[in-house]
Parts: sequence; structure tokens; C-alpha cells
Amino acid sequence: MTQIKKICCIGAGYVGGPTMAVIAQKNPQIQVTVVDINEERIAAWNNADLSKLPIYEPGLDTVVAEARGRNLFFDTNVDKAIDEADMIFISVNTPTKTYGKGKGMAADLKYIELCARQIARVAKTDKIVVEKSTLPVRTAQAIKRILDQTGNGVSYQILSNPEFLAEGTAIQDLMNPDRVLIGGEESDTGREAIEALASVYGAWVPQERILRTNVWSSELSKLTANAFLAQRVSSINAISELCEASGADVNEVAKAIGMDSRIGSKFLKASVGFGGSCFQKDIFNLVYIAKTYGLDEVADYWEQVIIMNDFQKRRFAERIVTTLFNTVNDKKIAFLGWAFKKDTNDTRESAAIYVANDLMEEEAQIHVFDPKVTEQQMLTDLDYLNTRSSEANRKHLTVHQDPYTALENAHGIAVLTEWDEFKTYDWQRIYNKMQKPAFVFDGRNILDRKQLEQIGFEVYSIGAANIK
Ligand code: NAD
Ligand code: UDX
Repeated sequence: MTQIKKICCIGAGYVGGPTMAVIAQKNPQIQVTVVDINEERIAAWNNADLSKLPIYEPGLDTVVAEARGRNLFFDTNVDKAIDEADMIFISVNTPTKTYGKGKGMAADLKYIELCARQIARVAKTDKIVVEKSTLPVRTAQAIKRILDQTGNGVSYQILSNPEFLAEGTAIQDLMNPDRVLIGGEESDTGREAIEALASVYGAWVPQERILRTNVWSSELSKLTANAFLAQRVSSINAISELCEASGADVNEVAKAIGMDSRIGSKFLKASVGFGGSCFQKDIFNLVYIAKTYGLDEVADYWEQVIIMNDFQKRRFAERIVTTLFNTVNDKKIAFLGWAFKKDTNDTRESAAIYVANDLMEEEAQIHVFDPKVTEQQMLTDLDYLNTRSSEANRKHLTVHQDPYTALENAHGIAVLTEWDEFKTYDWQRIYNKMQKPAFVFDGRNILDRKQLEQIGFEVYSIGAANIK
């Protein structure tokens, strides 16, 4: 069996960084080099101060501390790392296209193609190329053609090995994955490549959790997994509106259906809407693929998950406006949280961005506290929407380092991220310093509603019988 001695990973992001750190920690005999064209990101990965790593993930600092400089390296010299490696992971971003055919739907594969062409140009020995990025089904075929037709005559095996980690629990997910999926060519060399990668994971993952499939099944399973997970969130969010209208309570409904072992209890938490870099992008990608095969009903079915999610975010913002006597003009609305979920500094597609944008359209003054997201990031997120000038965004957004100053004098508080610390704040103190009536809009249903109501707050929770 091929023994892997050197791994290169192209892309030092939320997936490449943590995944390679764990692979290196568990395989001290393998040299793992993570490369990126973003010099600032690589410098941050190499920062001696582990609190300054470019991404925040609980437990990541410990893993990096153990492996970095021993057999884990972060570098900007992509050619050198490709040249030396037996196995190359492609872990670059695959965002939704913002131009041309498939704009707003299809995955933009330009970074993937650039990687394939770079590998083809540099490689002088046989390589196993692993798709770690989430890709449309049959991308491996395109990568293979580029490698074979523009390369130096060396031979390539392409594997699909999608990543299922969730942010905020990445290290835990990598250490103890439900499964590792490896798709490969159905040939002797294909199977040999699959086993080479399986042995890397075999250092800590039990064999029965390493699933071998053909390449297309593996590619499509990743999009399907994210579509199913997002669908559950949109399904419970759809029910949350029905609960509000009918007097049912969405937490009780979720518990009741979740105890059915066929349904299961996970991913049934009603919220202000799902965010993150994956769900929306991957569903759009699935919808686009279905459309290109002429499968319109399939496409429409999955698109509804996004439509419901957009509605949930909009509905939350509208609820704030109607509750605050139909105007938020110049009112201070305090946001607790900006990240798309707790325990991450990632804000991509976070519901907070869209809720803030809607409220700014109504001329509200948004004051935000998030324990991990920088002011610069929040402003970049708003500017990216292109709804108004960046000066106007700066006029309407104030970022605080202290939650209590963010909340002081607010007309309303909106919880956008489920950070644990929000539950432990001194809510009596907050109430005393707020405008009255003091409204709380709990977009994550994390606060103790009874306790807040006893203090005097008027509370709106997702999917509950609420103030009208
Ligand atoms: P990211 O944007 O955090 O990181 C990607 C990195 O690739 C960037 O640092 C970028 O500079 C680098 N890059 C792009 N082109 C390059 C090139 N030609 N050479 C060298 N470096 C290059 O993205 P991410 O969140 O890590 O996601 C990567 C892939 O993994 C995507 O396909 C995504 O869908 C998938 N995925 C993400 C998650 C997640 O939770 N973020 C989970 C599972 C799968
Ligand atoms: C997701 C997938 O879970 C992961 O397997 C894949 O590799 C990448 O995409 P991630 O986006 O990091 O991971 O986080 P996830 O925990 O799935 O949450 C996504 C969004 O859904 C968040 O905004 C979260 O707050 C929201 N969510 C999740 C809910 O609103 N309710 C839930 O019950 C679960």
C-alpha cells in the first residue's frame, strides 16, 4: 500500500487549517504543509501567540501547539509544497458565482481550476489529489482532465473526501467524526489511493466509520447532507410561525417530534434563520445542478429551504419594527451577537447581517456586542450587501467592547447569536438602564423568558405565544 509521507493542503481556511492540524497531530510521521496565497492568513497561523490564530475554534490552539513546527507547517510557497507532496488536498473556497452564467446559484470553481492547473504545472512525480472543498457532482472529472492534459505526464488519482465538520465544534467533529467519506475511482489504482487516504484517517478513526464510495456519490453526499440539515432548520422555522399564530410552543413541538427516533432531536432548534458559509451556497449549488439536468421539480423543492430561511430573517426584523410601535427611526436597537452561531468568529451569511440591514433601512441605530467578531468584519459584511454607502453603514452601526454599554438606553435588544455568556448577564441591571417598555427579541430562544418577564421585560421569542 502507498505510504503517505508528505501532505500538502492548498487553502488555510476554516477547513484546511483545523483539518490538517488534526491530521498532523494524529500522524507525527507525516509532514503536513498547509499553503495559502493569503500571506496575512499564513502569518497568523504562524503567530507565536496562539490566541491570534486566524480562526477561533475551541481546542484548536492546543492541537496547533502540539504539531506546529514538528510536522505541521504553514507556508506561502505553494509550488514547493505541491512538488514535495505525495498527497495534495484542495481546500480552497468555492463560493456562489457572482457573475455570468449561473450567477447567484452555481459554485464558482475558478479557485479549484487554478489549483488544478498549478498542480499540473509543478508536479514531477505521481500524486493523489484529494477534493476537500465542497464541489458539484462530477468536478473530479474536470480536475482529472486538466491534470492529464496540461501536466508533465505524471499520473494522478483524484479522490473526493468532503469535510463534515461544523464551525464552533470543528476539533471535536474532526477527532470523533460520525464518518469519513472517501470516494475514488473504481480501479486497482483508485482503490489503492482510497486506502492510502484511509490509512491517514485510520490513525484515529475506526475503520468501520471510514466509508468508501465512488467519486460521484461522495461529491453528491456532501451537498445532500447540508441540504438535509438546512431543510430541518427551515422546517422547524416554518412551524415556528404557525406556533406563534396558533398558541403552540415550538420548543415543545420540537421536543415532541424529536423523541420519535425516526425523526431525531438534533437540528430542530427554531431560530432567526440559519447562516454560515455552507448551507445557502450548497443548496443553491444543488438547485443549479438539478436545473442543468432539467430536473425543475427537484430544483424547486430544495430552493424552498432558502426561501423559507430568507423569510424567517425578514420576519424577525419586521417583528422588531411592528413591536416598537411601527417605527425604529433613530431608535437604539442593541444586538447581542453577530457571528452566524456561537463559538466562532465566522460571520459569513450570518442572520445578524440581514436583520441589521433591514433595520437600517428603517433608519435604526444598531449597537452590537459580539465576543469574537471585530468591528471591521461587521462593517465589511454590511458594505458587501451594497445596500447603502459605507459612510451610511458607519453612521448606523456602533460596535461595543462591553455588552452593558451596548445595551444601555436601548429601546430593544435582539439576540442574534446563541453565545452562552448572554444567559449569565445581569438582566436586572440591563432592565434598569433601558428605555421603557423594555423589549427583548430572542432570536435564539436562549434567555429565561419567565425571569425576564418577572423583571419587567416584554419578550418576543421565536415560535411562542408572544406579545402582540
Ligand atoms: P476559506 O475561505 O476559509 O478558506 C479558503 C482559503 O483558500 C483562503 O484562505 C484562500 O486564500 C485560499 N485559496 C484560494 N485559492 C487559492 C489558491 N489558488 N492557492 C492557495 N490558496 C488559495 O474557506 P473554508 O470555509 O475553509 O472552505 C473551504 C471549502 O470547504 C469550501 O468548498 C467549503 O464549502 C468547504 N467546507 C467548509 C466548511 C466550513 O465550515 N467552513 C465545512 C465543510 C466544507
Ligand atoms: C454546516 C454543517 O453542519 C457541517 O456538517 C458542514 O460541514 C458545514 O455546514 P456550520 O455551517 O459550521 O456546519 O454550522 P451548523 O451547526 O450546521 O449551523 C448552521 C446554521 O444553522 C447556524 O446559523 C445555526 O445557528 C443554524 N441552526 C442550526 C439553527 O438555526 N437551528 C438548528 O437546530 C441548528
